[in-house]
Amino acid sequence: MTVRPYAPEHADAVHRMRKLAFGTPRDDAWAAESDAWHGFVADVDGDTCGTLRIWAYRQFFGGRAVPAGGIATVAVDPHARGRGVAGALLDAALAGMREAGQPLSILFAATPPLYRGRGWEQVGSAERVQVPISVLAALPPGRAPVRRAVEADLPELHRLYLDLGSTVDGMLDRSEPAFEVSRIFELDIVDVVPGEDGVRGYVAASRHGANDLTVWDLVARDAEAALTLLGRLSSWAGMVEQVSLRLVDPVVYDLLLAMPRHLPRFVEPFMLRVVDLAAAVEARGWPDYLPDFTVDLEITDEHAPWNAGRHRLVHESGALRIEPGGTGVVRLQARALGPWFAGTATTDALRRAGLLEGVAPMLDAVTAAPRQLRIADTF
Ligand SMILES: CC(C)(COP(=O)(O)OP(=O)(O)OC[C@H]1O[C@@H](n2cnc3c(N)ncnc32)[C@H](O)[C@@H]1OP(=O)(O)O)[C@@H](O)C(=O)NCCC(=O)NCCS
Repeated sequence: MTVRPYAPEHADAVHRMRKLAFGTPRDDAWAAESDAWHGFVADVDGDTCGTLRIWAYRQFFGGRAVPAGGIATVAVDPHARGRGVAGALLDAALAGMREAGQPLSILFAATPPLYRGRGWEQVGSAERVQVPISVLAALPPGRAPVRRAVEADLPELHRLYLDLGSTVDGMLDRSEPAFEVSRIFELDIVDVVPGEDGVRGYVAASRHGANDLTVWDLVARDAEAALTLLGRLSSWAGMVEQVSLRLVDPVVYDLLLAMPRHLPRFVEPFMLRVVDLAAAVEARGWPDYLPDFTVDLEITDEHAPWNAGRHRLVHESGALRIEPGGTGVVRLQARALGPWFAGTATTDALRRAGLLEGVAPMLDAVTAAPRQLRIADTF
């Protein structure tokens, strides 16, 4: 078997594999080179029978946007399955992401064991909730003015999203070519709450069938702007019974909606893998109030061998780095690196999962574990 970088000449083979695996229609984007993604194909006996794509994203951790490869379209032709083709593609992807300067990798898994076996682990979720109109109508009224958004608002809308996203670990920065933020205007509704210093909030939503109202983004700087946008959704009473609300800012559901019970909630977990530990540690934002410390690590990482072996995590003068060496007193499996880096699992939890041995409270302190991760965009 050979694995090689994707090139436009593979578009027909990939179209066949995508149609078989996911039922998706032909996508002309595969016919050209792109800054937004790169990919790999696998050949067995000269037959192209496997593929995957890696989107170029940046994901916020500690207020800094860390380059992350978003793995998608993992597909192997039925006759070639069960022979390690997907595994070989993922190994190539790990080396490829490291080379492309993507120290993290994220994905939404239909087949988690495939990815767990190569060091990805569940860390958070994208969520959508079905909110009855009656719940929106019962909110305290927000009385801010609202107007339709215009093209000139686009930088402000993105700035508003970034101001929020940079404070919520796990959110993508939507600044890479993979996102065409101007496509927001393809949606049926884009309304803003104007403010003295720019836009205070916006909502972007679409209508699909007679009974469907889907909210993609509802982002606001302050509670009044958020309550105004939420409350105005209740004007759809009589036409739709509920609003499908994508949870972008956790505040909207957790602190502003009236704690509704038993609402259908669709949760799509996502997995994270630290592709390059030293680069990931350097790229992330870390708290600046911790004392100097070191933790000696021994990492087992068969599929990203550059991470493996003894490393020392050094915190000095407010900066964190990884350097080779140390006694290896705390032992981590590759799968532990994602939840540790993201702060979604404590060292106690990782130990109980069989992914960590040893005691190192500073590993928890530095990530402020346990904490919740969020992502709004799925791919
Ligand atoms: C899932 C898929 C890509 C696997 O391809 P493959 O070449 O057969 O996978 P491999 O032989 O490399 O298997 C690697 C590992 O993943 C596991 N695995 C493979 N398919 C799996 C599945 N459907 N569910 C759970 N685990 C799976 C294997 O057991 C193997 O584990 P091991 O390394 O411990 O032996 C392929 O079946 C496919 O194209 N399915 C349809 C599309 C799809 O589901 N894609 C994944 C979307 S996230």
